[in-house]
Amino acid sequence: MVGKHNGQFQPLQRYAHITGWGKALPDRVVTNDELAQIVDTSDEWIRTRTGIHQRYVAIDANETTATLGARAARAALEKADLPIGKLDLIICATSSPEHLFPSTASLIQDALGATRAGAFDLSAACSGFVYGLALARGMIASGQADNVLVVGAETLSRIVDWSDRNTCVLFGDGAGAVLLQASATPGGVLSTVLGSDGSGGDLLAVPAGGSKQPATLETVAAGQHFIKMDGRAVFRFATRVMADATREVLGKAGLEVGDVDLVIPHQANERIIRLSMKQLGLPEEKVFINLQYYGNTSTASIPIALCDAIEQERLQPNDNMVMVGFGAGLTWAASAIKWVGPVSREAPLWRAGQRTATYGLAQMRSRLLRLSRKMEGTLMTEEGDALSEALSKRIERWRRSSKE
Ligand code: UT7
Repeated sequence: MVGKHNGQFQPLQRYAHITGWGKALPDRVVTNDELAQIVDTSDEWIRTRTGIHQRYVAIDANETTATLGARAARAALEKADLPIGKLDLIICATSSPEHLFPSTASLIQDALGATRAGAFDLSAACSGFVYGLALARGMIASGQADNVLVVGAETLSRIVDWSDRNTCVLFGDGAGAVLLQASATPGGVLSTVLGSDGSGGDLLAVPAGGSKQPATLETVAAGQHFIKMDGRAVFRFATRVMADATREVLGKAGLEVGDVDLVIPHQANERIIRLSMKQLGLPEEKVFINLQYYGNTSTASIPIALCDAIEQERLQPNDNMVMVGFGAGLTWAASAIKWVGPVSREAPLWRAGQRTATYGLAQMRSRLLRLSRKMEGTLMTEEGDALSEALSKRIERWRRSSKE
């Protein structure tokens, strides 16, 4: 991108705008009263201590972090009407990845059929989505990417101890995604603040299952693969960092608290949000809260809240918005955004059909690639076999052409 200034060609500044957004939730809603039937808790305790009324839980084993992430991603791409082939990068922030590896982002890439996109997971717990925004902005501003998808996706219900009332009442499943696109129009992600204090790593953790404490019969029996949390300590940390990070990110963007139109905070606990926003002197109508419906969906909480805020017309073009989160690590992150509003591109009616066909083809392509790898493996055992060589070449050619 270049522009003419004072008679000389200069590189134009590239801004990263959110042009698409989407969310996905599992079907099953679990109310506080239902939880009170399995642990010693009550609707009253959960509502007054957290603000949560219900949460969505992925009961169906086929609903996973990647399937939720892919659904949210499709909705975001549809909103921006971006052809899949133009996607450069998929960043998936998640605290409940499908595996240690491969990355959930790669599974989402495969489900979308985004053959030209790179993909990786980002681990910064509940701050992960805002970390992802910061990276996407950097990739776009430096000219390395034009279209970046940032997904926050979780199935925390799979790593929650359903007999631990300290944690199981808090979390929910779901996914949110945004598409960031390069533009010469000023605005979009203006500034970001990323922070970490690893000395608090033990306050919120899944102790086993990684390389330090691999899975053994003992770790499973001791429940070490579930979320463990010192709630009070995390509460204190959160109320310390949320206001500071918001002030800092606004300062970096050349804005003041009075310039803010909407804050979308990580939806962990209504008391944390209200206390933090009070420290900033922000009136209630400038703070978006939807945790009553979803619980704490970790990396997905901010993008889901963004979708709801847009749906409820809480954001207008040119509004200054702050997204701010905190989480395990310990980590925190904030982003100041100048909202440009929906980029209205009237997608032709046939586009919906085309998209469905594209996703169907992506599934077929994925299956064929898996099959071709199996065939290749079987045939290549006969060393020097002319048939296997010829077939492999064909498969390779097909793989390359299906990328184009
Ligand atoms: O994304 C980041 C994730 N983590 C967080 O955001 C967590 C931050 N922390 C919090 O949100 C709050 O600390 C909690 C909601 C986890 C707990 O609220 P609290 O007001 O800090 O309660 P507490 O931990 O001080 O516990 C008060 C009492 C305790 O009983 P005793 O010791 O006073 O007899 C707990 O055992 O409440 C008890 N309690 C419960 N009672 C009924 C804890 N959990 C429950 C429960 N139902 N689910």
